Amino acid sequence: MEAAHTLPVWAGKDKIVQRIRDNDTVILVGETGSGKTTQVPQFLLREGILPSEGQHMIGITQPRRVAATSLARRVASELGCADPATLKEKQEHDGLPEWVGYSVRFDDRTTRHTRIKFLTDGMLIREILGPLPRRRGKPERNFKETNEYSLKRYSVLIIDEAHERSLRTDMVLGLAKRIQRDRRNRIEAGEANVYPLKIVVMSATIDAERFAQFFSHGQPVPILYVAGRQHGVRLYHTEASCQDWTDAAVRTMMQIHVSKPLGDILVFATGQEEIEAMAQSLKLYAAQLDAWAEEQGRDSVPTLLIRPLYAALGPSASAAVFAPTPKHTRKVVLATNIAETSITIPGVRYVVDSGLVKEKVFSPQTHVETLQVLPVSQSSSLQRAGRAGREGPGECYRLYTREAFQELQLQPTSEIHRTELSGAALQLYAMGLDPFTFDWIEPPATSLLHEAVLQLAELGAVDSRKDTVQLTPLGQRLAALPVTPSYARLLLAAAERGPEVASQARDLVSILSADRGLFVDVADPEKREAAESARDQFVDTSGDHATLLNALRAYLLAQQHAFQSHSTPAAARQELKMWCQTHAIHERTVKNVLAIRKQLIRICLQHGIECADDATKSAAAPDDGESESDDDALIVTRYGASSTRDHEQSYADLLQCLGMGRLSHVALRQPDGSFRRIAGGQSFKLHPTCVLHPSRHGARGISSDSVQAIVFEELVMTSQTFARTVSKLEPVWLQALLAAS
Ligand code: CDP
Ligand code: MG
Repeated sequence: MEAAHTLPVWAGKDKIVQRIRDNDTVILVGETGSGKTTQVPQFLLREGILPSEGQHMIGITQPRRVAATSLARRVASELGCADPATLKEKQEHDGLPEWVGYSVRFDDRTTRHTRIKFLTDGMLIREILGPLPRRRGKPERNFKETNEYSLKRYSVLIIDEAHERSLRTDMVLGLAKRIQRDRRNRIEAGEANVYPLKIVVMSATIDAERFAQFFSHGQPVPILYVAGRQHGVRLYHTEASCQDWTDAAVRTMMQIHVSKPLGDILVFATGQEEIEAMAQSLKLYAAQLDAWAEEQGRDSVPTLLIRPLYAALGPSASAAVFAPTPKHTRKVVLATNIAETSITIPGVRYVVDSGLVKEKVFSPQTHVETLQVLPVSQSSSLQRAGRAGREGPGECYRLYTREAFQELQLQPTSEIHRTELSGAALQLYAMGLDPFTFDWIEPPATSLLHEAVLQLAELGAVDSRKDTVQLTPLGQRLAALPVTPSYARLLLAAAERGPEVASQARDLVSILSADRGLFVDVADPEKREAAESARDQFVDTSGDHATLLNALRAYLLAQQHAFQSHSTPAAARQELKMWCQTHAIHERTVKNVLAIRKQLIRICLQHGIECADDATKSAAAPDDGESESDDDALIVTRYGASSTRDHEQSYADLLQCLGMGRLSHVALRQPDGSFRRIAGGQSFKLHPTCVLHPSRHGARGISSDSVQAIVFEELVMTSQTFARTVSKLEPVWLQALLAAS
């Protein structure tokens, strides 16, 4: 392990600490990997910047959950503290201090001893939002009231990765500025026990002026630069643009592997599916390496270690990326843009850059947000290349031409200009703030905010008559639930139809909130056939929602069976693993879904959403995330037992709730068989993986005519636009929906 005190940021330690002591806000700019994120919080803790009385904390926000968890674990290990991933309230850790924790959605690893807290910006916003107001039916709340408890324990707030300008980071910037000023005012008014909020904005590229100006309340805000250590990186471009970049990436990696000196390879890919596909091909190649070397009369080729890195990986899988590479071995890290600036992987000498990134894009023309694969900006592309030159001279292989690079946009477009804003707007309204006048570092187009208000009005979250927007009591409840407003609406709608429907909705929201789909997208046609027939038993002819629920319930039964019929938990786990493989279900995703479900069980209880299986709540209390404890088995055992009772589940009520307040997710069949949203916009088809896809109607006894109206979860845009996760709506339900809106 590289000794921490040799990191470049150490050279500026005293100055950094002093500036933070002397100023309310400091901007810290430095090359990626210089030690800003891992070292600065430790400097501040060691130098005693926290007030001694009370339980004060240093908070560090991250745009991504993998960054928050892995950086927290790293800092904990450097400080000799308990590993936050194992932290549970009231548990002893061999006497290790519990100073470092993290909090990401559905996974809070902090205790009252936490002094350094890594959290996603989304979680920080939730903390500012606070719990539900005590008085029911009184949605209005002014910000001061919210602020009473907001961020009270934080003395220092480090807003990290600010250059990325994620929507949530932008919100945090505006909110933190407000809270900082509010605290100053209270201190000046002589209020006791109020401490200033120190803000440190950390950024990898040089847009520091903008942040400094934003935070200057008449006083200049100091900008500190950490000198980087960057070696030369040799750039290679392709001669012609490549048709299939994953294929080109795999070939480039193999080329590097057999011809270049040892040193790890970092590949910038778009998403987990592409990463998994590349990992598969790499494994195939790697298996043939020895035979190949022999045939060529060469010495044996180094071992190839394949390490994926993307959001849906649990803490332990992502930790494997940082493990030092063994001798005579080359590590290949297949990453999303998370490795661009948030996470620095030691040992990298070669970068292979797809030049692409997967992003959410909101189209004002279609009023729909889609996930799209788009070219990166020049600045991202330079950052990516830079990852090869941190420890010595490196090489970067761009899978695009020199001309293509020249044509890239200089800087990425901030998320706020390209995303759907209803969730953000709802949170601001719930804090008593107005998104139209909010102190944004870069305000969004008013049309995007109007669009957001329309969406919120559709959900019933706001009342927007006569030019004023009023949060409704329903809106306040939606904002308080830590899922997207539309899933929150589903939960509340289901709750009105009784505990059985509520528990179905809760489980469905758990599935839909996971980082990825439950079913493996099998590329190989033969294997796909096999996977599909194995999954046939889950199919509900209403569509994907009920089918997904059936699959989750079947897993729970399989789990119950496995733990009852095997004497050792290890054997039971092996059986479950096989079960997932047979049914082409992502086991890691199921575990993620169960962890979310456990949190949602708790959240539903807190919010008065009564579920049919609440009797099992005691088993759901502690959360142990991805750990494979038998505690998980316990709840599902009881759960499974209860679900055998009503074997034939009816999902009619749930399906009706799916469309409530979500007319923008409802579409009608067109004469040509495509679909079009009720609200208009472009037409689209069902994704081939949909249960309702016409190619499967025959096998499933679905008549195309019966699928006149659908509700869908998302649209994806590839060469065409497809709807994914789709269910059928009966015409009478549709009429009821239209009448209600
Ligand atoms: O924030 P900044 O990009 O300036 O650097 P950092 O994230 O604090 O990383 C400093 C060093 O810690 C780098 O050399 C990383 O490779 C290393 N690190 C690590 O080895 N394992 C982690 N889990 C996190 C960081
Ligand atoms: Mg950092």
